[in-house]
Amino acid sequence: MDRILIRGGRRLAGRIPVSGAKNAALTLMPCALLTDEPLTLRNLPRLADVDGFGHLLNQLGVSTMVEGAHPADFGRVMTMRAQRLTSTIAPYDIVRKMRASILVLGPLVARAGEATVSLPGGCAIGNRPIDLHLKALEAMGAEIELTAGYVKAVAPGGRLPGGRYTFPVVSVGATENAVMAAVLARGTTVLENAAREPEIVDLCNCLLAMGASITGIGTETLTIDGVDRLHGATYRVMPDRIEAGSYACAAAITGGSLELVGANAGDMRATLAALSEAGVKVEERRDAILIEASNGLAPLNLSTAPYPGFATDMQAQFMAMLTKAEGTSVLTETIFENRYMHVPELARMGADIQVTGRSALVRGVTPLIGAPVMATDLRASMSLIIAGLAAEGETEVNRVYHLDRGYERLEEKLQAVGADIERVGG
Ligand code: UD1
Repeated sequence: MDRILIRGGRRLAGRIPVSGAKNAALTLMPCALLTDEPLTLRNLPRLADVDGFGHLLNQLGVSTMVEGAHPADFGRVMTMRAQRLTSTIAPYDIVRKMRASILVLGPLVARAGEATVSLPGGCAIGNRPIDLHLKALEAMGAEIELTAGYVKAVAPGGRLPGGRYTFPVVSVGATENAVMAAVLARGTTVLENAAREPEIVDLCNCLLAMGASITGIGTETLTIDGVDRLHGATYRVMPDRIEAGSYACAAAITGGSLELVGANAGDMRATLAALSEAGVKVEERRDAILIEASNGLAPLNLSTAPYPGFATDMQAQFMAMLTKAEGTSVLTETIFENRYMHVPELARMGADIQVTGRSALVRGVTPLIGAPVMATDLRASMSLIIAGLAAEGETEVNRVYHLDRGYERLEEKLQAVGADIERVGG
């Protein structure tokens, strides 16, 4: 199994191109199921999860064709065509490896009138149920049946009527599934307390380009008037705000200066505000964000929240960074239970972190010492990379496959800005 070796202590400086957003890609790709015409996505990141989603679409009868990058992009171009669906089943083998597979449920019911998707089961950052996905579909007229580890959703008469649903808690995935199901419904759907994440705005904009009718985009109330059919489109995946934020933390912890090329500051206000509060200089440029950290870092008090709040996907990276802040920081995780698996690993590198309930107290400044570490999820793994960049000596990050799910060419990008980092096999 591959490992990543980092010899820490180098100041990062230079430019890092920001890739297309993983979480946007994973909700834009299933849109291909909604039409028999081709959907072309530009700026798709080269990631294990994107490849995995492509395989899932292939199993359903969707053809996928990958080309090199458009000159204006970093990522690839993929054209998907679901001329005729050959299956409406997302099997256990695929869903178990990639939770986002659940996002075929809504579009399959909308297009084919039925879908059978394996239940994703537990996952490293908590229980992560899909009850809200199912309740939203039910409110839109789907009949839901759970059997033998699978969920089957059927649109009576082949087409969902549409309906009104108020989410009891904000869910990104459930909002995405509901929107994709609603665009081909017979009537109107109103989704209240919908997620407002930029990836949902990206999804809605892509669906508009395909001929959907959606209003309230970017607000907590989405109104979707079903249309009879959608057509093909070409759409560019938004830049990855979490990748950009992660490299900003890497710049900050090394006292470095990084230009995040292609990052969109408007999508990451809470992250940038937190960096500024920590004493990091943030400068918005036309097509980039400049992050400069020269003096010491100030401690923070941060609580994760749905967008536009501070993203749970940034919590682990900030925690690593805040081990270098002068004083005690408090991080509170409100979205997922059990999202502190990086804490014992950071502690092994010398961090002083105490978890009480949903909050973590990070006492700085602590010297970090390189160590063999591993994490059980994507963002936790990135926090170990960030800590490794500032640690004395060598850090060996194991279970690199987590990073390959979400960070395109991680070592290459960090090497180019001065990090001593390499991937070794075996
Ligand atoms: C998405 C992101 C993930 C991010 C998360 C929160 C993708 C592929 N993943 O995950 O990176 O960390 O948003 O910003 O886009 N919940 C329920 N029932 C449901 C669905 C969710 O109780 O049916 C709960 C979850 O357990 C969690 C909360 O709602 O506590 C938010 O989860 P959700 O927004 O759905 O996360 P994902 O869409 O899975």
